[in-house]
Amino acid sequence: MSFTNKKIIAGNWKMNGLKNEAWQLTNDLLSKFESPDQKLQFEMIICPPATLLSEVVSMVDGSPIKVGAQNCSDKLNGAYTGEISPTMIKDIGAQFVILGHSERRSYYGETNEIVSQKAFSALSQGLTPIICIGETLEQKENGSALAVIEDQFTNSIPEGASIENIIIAYEPVWAIGTGKVATLQDIIDIHTKIREVSEKKLGSRNISILYGGSVKPSNAKDIFSLQDVDGVLVGGASLNADDFWNIAMES
Ligand code: 13P
Repeated sequence: MSFTNKKIIAGNWKMNGLKNEAWQLTNDLLSKFESPDQKLQFEMIICPPATLLSEVVSMVDGSPIKVGAQNCSDKLNGAYTGEISPTMIKDIGAQFVILGHSERRSYYGETNEIVSQKAFSALSQGLTPIICIGETLEQKENGSALAVIEDQFTNSIPEGASIENIIIAYEPVWAIGTGKVATLQDIIDIHTKIREVSEKKLGSRNISILYGGSVKPSNAKDIFSLQDVDGVLVGGASLNADDFWNIAMES
């Protein structure tokens, strides 16, 4: 069994949101649910900036919404000024952590090895890593996308990972924040490749794979129609409660 058999709707707020905005957005989302025990066909996860995690965890307590961080240290504690450990994230009640997002890989020099170490530490604290992989436009154009995906998957997944305790997000770098969505065939090809590599590395194809990159209410239905898509990782559209909810409604 993969992490869940429901569709996963995850929102990455990135470095957006002050206290008031987070309060409004979270409340707007909460107001969409009919009741805490409402039967839903999806799991909703929101990933606010670290400064808002504690507040948002308290707000969603008792609701179907779960909370994740956007990054963590590979260390559990100690003299690492400015870092936030997976132990701290777990302690405040978040359950997930996005790791290896392309923005962290490209702006902060995170290699597959670093991502793998962070994911190892996150798993050791009982967090579920959402590990991001994806090719750049150049890699897509020079025909190396599948090889890049294989390399990122193989080397970003830590010891102890299984199809039950991690989630993969396929986010083509050229589709992030650009309005350019991967074609359905692109998504099928890459998700199929990820399943092949998962079988080699983790012994099963049934890993949860999210697609991310310019997901909007208008394209969500087509994306969810693909059998190989287990959910979406949404950036910009997750900052608007109606858009994020409407994406979930297409799942
Ligand atoms: P956009 O949905 O804004 O393209 O961002 C995708 C993303 O990077 C989610 O992690």
